[in-house]
Amino acid sequence: MKLEVTGLTKCYGPTRAADGLSLSVESSRVLVLIGPSGGGKSTLLRMLGGLEIPDSGTIAINGHRLLSDAAALQAYRRKNGFLFQQFNLFPHLTARRNISLPLEKVHGFTPGEAHTMAEQALARFSLLDHADKLPAQLSGGQQQRVGIARAVARQPEVLFLDEPTSALDPEMTAEVLELIQELAEAGQDIILSTHEMGFARAVADQVAFVAMGKIEEISPPAELFAGPKSALCQRFLSRVMLY
Ligand SMILES: Nc1ncnc2c1ncn2[C@@H]1O[C@H](COP(=O)(O)OP(=O)(O)O)[C@@H](O)[C@H]1O
Ligand SMILES: [Mg+2]
Repeated sequence: MKLEVTGLTKCYGPTRAADGLSLSVESSRVLVLIGPSGGGKSTLLRMLGGLEIPDSGTIAINGHRLLSDAAALQAYRRKNGFLFQQFNLFPHLTARRNISLPLEKVHGFTPGEAHTMAEQALARFSLLDHADKLPAQLSGGQQQRVGIARAVARQPEVLFLDEPTSALDPEMTAEVLELIQELAEAGQDIILSTHEMGFARAVADQVAFVAMGKIEEISPPAELFAGPKSALCQRFLSRVMLY
């Protein structure tokens, strides 16, 4: 994907969650956002995904300028896939129904088509055994994998993942990260935020350090982790890499 972001601002009351943020990426398969809590990663992901409208600034993805009228935003959101930190699935629906319902209601497929697509998505990630279970009957890792299966059931142009493993223990984290890696290798364009630095280094082709509502630094992972240029990024990495 190609990204061109200029001068984005977004305020929540007195908080400047995006503060004149700019970003230019010529070609990237997996863009990873890292940085301190409260630095603006989620806000940026939501604006890039069309879930939130910036106060000012412009976003263009793959040469298309993101417009802020409701119809254009809705059409844009439908082309993409999303997964957040937690609480992604409807608790009263089975894994299969969690996938098929949006395909019917949002994308207009018939119940039969939606059912078949849901089966295919579950099969792709070895989740068919869990098709009839409710979220509460699945582990956190399995729930996130179902969430990802749902997000990619319609082959999204870009998959947005906001700290998809932050609520998981290490083993479940691994199973979700493996699935994301698989998607990346299959050619899926992904923008994700994470605190898993090892994973960021392994899967990203560009890593952006987000702090105080700006992109402080963006480089290929080998470069950024070996020699961060900005003082903020140096300080952040020296602290998170300690443990
Ligand atoms: N919906 C919201 N309402 C009020 N403040 C928000 C909202 N979303 C984010 N913020 C604030 O904006 C700043 C950036 O938050 P966020 O984008 O969530 O950062 P990160 O994801 O890097 O932790 C924080 O100070 C946060 O408290
Ligand atoms: Mg966040």
